[in-house]
Amino acid sequence: MSCFLLCCKSKERINKKSLKKNVKECHETKTIGSFANISLKTDSCKRKYIVDEITKFGKGNITAKYFNYRELCAATENFNPDNLIGEGGFGRVYKGHLKSPDQVVAVKQLDRNGYQGNREFLVEVLMLSLLTHPHLVKLVGYCAEGDHRLLVYEYMPNGSLEDHLLEIGEGRKPLDWNTRMKIAGCAAKGLEYLHDVANPPVIYRDFKASNILLDENFNAKLSDFGLAKLGPTGEKTHVSTRVMGTYGYCAPEYAQTGQLTTKSDIYSFGVVLLEMITGKRVIDTSRPSEEENLVVWAQPLFKDKSKFASMADPLLEEKFPVKSLYQALAVAAMCLQEDGSCRPLMSDVLTAIEFLAKKKVDGEANCNEDDDEEKEDSNGDNNTSDRVDDKKKY
Ligand SMILES: Nc1ncnc2c1ncn2[C@@H]1O[C@H](COP(=O)(O)OP(=O)(O)OP(=O)(O)O)[C@@H](O)[C@H]1O
Ligand SMILES: [Mg+2]
Repeated sequence: MSCFLLCCKSKERINKKSLKKNVKECHETKTIGSFANISLKTDSCKRKYIVDEITKFGKGNITAKYFNYRELCAATENFNPDNLIGEGGFGRVYKGHLKSPDQVVAVKQLDRNGYQGNREFLVEVLMLSLLTHPHLVKLVGYCAEGDHRLLVYEYMPNGSLEDHLLEIGEGRKPLDWNTRMKIAGCAAKGLEYLHDVANPPVIYRDFKASNILLDENFNAKLSDFGLAKLGPTGEKTHVSTRVMGTYGYCAPEYAQTGQLTTKSDIYSFGVVLLEMITGKRVIDTSRPSEEENLVVWAQPLFKDKSKFASMADPLLEEKFPVKSLYQALAVAAMCLQEDGSCRPLMSDVLTAIEFLAKKKVDGEANCNEDDDEEKEDSNGDNNTSDRVDDKKKY
């Protein structure tokens, strides 16, 4: 493991270069400081003034278009169930076709009201308007007419990583090793942008397989920024906040104390990487009790190299470089350390994952950021079963 880490360090310089390249994007993130830790005082206040709030906090930088409800009804054929593409804690997601601009989109309809729902809506609109990166999903627009709250995103034709890894839909093939590493690389780039380039840093807080969306070439983008928080600044080591996130993906120290750092995202990255290697969902009560929690099951195996091969997803049919499997497990183990301060930085994780993504079995599966950049130029209440707040046990 240590030898692999050294190799990662030697690549740090390349990483720094890419950071510099992204520095031009920093000015866009300055405005984030004005709203990301926003605390809306009353329910009626933010319901009434949500559009004003977006305008005020966005300080003229909001690129997302305002849609009226009628336009989104037309785009989704009155939210026709045939156009339903998914459902999460926020509400239902429909495929839609906008007339102006002429574009296929995903329309997410908020079905829960109240303080948390509106706060997440506002944070999502502002975050995604101000943070732009090839590996963050693009927010095309939003609607806040009357009680309606809708978010309009670019459409990601391959859905989420969850759809291809943990709930493989009919007619879908299991992901091969190269594609898994490519997706891990894209997601790592998105997180590294939030931690190291955004100023102040942004803690994503909801890194999980269903929030990693895939385009037609399996380039991955992070979605769902409603829970994102500003990282600590100055002398502070953490931000204190109500525990939010999804059961199984939350770092233990954050779940226990509410103290949030960028290392909480590193833990969640480790969980998703482990899911990608093993093909197993982090929490699955249908497994034998000692295997219900993937991380608890994996911890002793991380210490025994002879068990590594048995941890790989059987659907990979052993088609992966064994060394890469070992190294990927080593990265996951480092990210999943109990003590947050021992976990690596996102820049180190990215270097390690990029190294793995380059080592292909056969064929091509590179995370193509340059292609994406070219494209760019041209153109609440947690009421889901697996979401947690501070009342639930970890
Ligand atoms: N932009 C998009 N393009 C294509 N499909 C999408 C898009 N956004 C969401 N989806 C689909 O809708 C599903 C539900 O997404 P949603 O973010 O509402 O919930 P979730 O992430 O599954 O759960 P949670 O609300 O707990 O975070 C996703 O898993 C994905 O399959
Ligand atoms: Mg989601």
